[in-house]
Amino acid sequence: MEIRATDTPLLEWTGDGLAIGLFENAVELTGNLTQLNENFAGILSELIAETEFKGKEGSSVVIRVGGGSSVRKVMLVGLGTDILKLDNWRRAAATVGRLAIKEKCKTLGISLPVWNNDPAATAGAIAEGIQLALFQDNRFKSEPEEQVGVEQVDLLGFGNQEQVIARANQICSGVILARELVAAPPNSVTPITMAETASAIASLHDLQLEILERVECEQLGMGAFLGVAQASDLPPKFIHLTYKPEGTPKRKLAIIGKGLTFDSGGLNIKGAGSGIEAMKVDMGGAAATLGAAKAIAQLKPDVEVHFISAVTENMISGRAMHPGDILTASNGKTIEVNNTDAEGRLTLADALVFAEKLGVDAIVDLATLTGACVIALGDDIAGLWSTDDTVANQLTQASEMAGEKIWRMPMEEKYFEGLKSPLADMKNTGPRPGGSITAALFLKQFVKETPWAHIDIAGPVWTDKENGYNSAGATG
Ligand code: BES
Ligand code: MN
Ligand code: ZN
Repeated sequence: MEIRATDTPLLEWTGDGLAIGLFENAVELTGNLTQLNENFAGILSELIAETEFKGKEGSSVVIRVGGGSSVRKVMLVGLGTDILKLDNWRRAAATVGRLAIKEKCKTLGISLPVWNNDPAATAGAIAEGIQLALFQDNRFKSEPEEQVGVEQVDLLGFGNQEQVIARANQICSGVILARELVAAPPNSVTPITMAETASAIASLHDLQLEILERVECEQLGMGAFLGVAQASDLPPKFIHLTYKPEGTPKRKLAIIGKGLTFDSGGLNIKGAGSGIEAMKVDMGGAAATLGAAKAIAQLKPDVEVHFISAVTENMISGRAMHPGDILTASNGKTIEVNNTDAEGRLTLADALVFAEKLGVDAIVDLATLTGACVIALGDDIAGLWSTDDTVANQLTQASEMAGEKIWRMPMEEKYFEGLKSPLADMKNTGPRPGGSITAALFLKQFVKETPWAHIDIAGPVWTDKENGYNSAGATG
């Protein structure tokens, strides 16, 4: 599929499907659309009246243009009321993409209003929405579903946006990689294949790659990570990819992702109804990190970025951690493992210590860390904890532009009492109330002074039903 911004005026565009975006309660046809309606013998105004189309966010109506017209179908899509919410454009483009498949349109013209006087941002969001909505995962089907593919998408009225569309393609390649990694089953995505994927990204996009094997992790004293890994028959892999810009970097950042390719819970095994069969998603943070590596390697910002994940499975065997074991992390802190199912924070502890030693200006970790965060914020919203207001505000702003919802949560120091251990420096698990907060407080013990943010993505990593530009499944 090719997406391009063309100079072809709306009234002259020819092809299978022409999509027009309208704001809620502003569906009167004005400007060009008056003429278009006339060219099509008034079917646009008839369609709006007959279907009572109001322009609500997510709504759409379609009509066939008869009489051998140069356009086969016209689609109207609603943009809602919030004219400042860029994500509504991304979502509208997703709706158009899905309609195009349903209406068997190979060529598509899209005419939406310009968001915030910014044609570049608008074109970028549309290009993202359409690609993310059209992505289909056929890797595990013996016979892929046949569908008429969209071949050509023309963005009308945005001027030349070649660079912006190229950037959107690069971002989407990262999102789609993350989706593919999360969706793949745990007998297909393992610590070994995660390391292979990192290596493939490194060679394709020119990143530096370091994979620490078990012995090297031992030498670094990563007792927390290795405690989690010790029951698995598969070797743990500590992945470290580095993107370095040409010249002196403006800043240095580390992105860390929780990388549990399967979380059985360990000896505190996940019981019936716990969603154990979904625990392939527990490497969603690592998948997002590798997706970010793929995207950033192509976007080439003037910032040095380290992509880090301590990848393993949380399994049971005669070698498994006992509930009650005391582990020593690579910063020397000791942890009493009162619950082997709170394993993610153990792997992240050593990853955080490793990242801080790189001397970066900020660290962000992404993790499917707690069911408690899903209870607090639901499936659509990630929890954000940070020791640094600047980093927290930047992440919040970025999430608004990207259409990914995050909500800042409190770092309530007093709750650390719930992690006090009579024997070791801390336990790994606190009481059930505030479980996502004590998880964040645990992580904080492994960052000394670098500005740091933790994002709990246990909810948004997966969606059971189609939602905006996400199909049911991994969201990326
Ligand atoms: N991987 C899970 C958290 C999770 C839950 C991810 C739902 C995705 C969807 C994590 O390792 C876990 O098991 N957390 C426990 C922590 C508890 C033992 C303190 C939980 O949330 O129940
Ligand atoms: Mn767990
Ligand atoms: Zn887990």
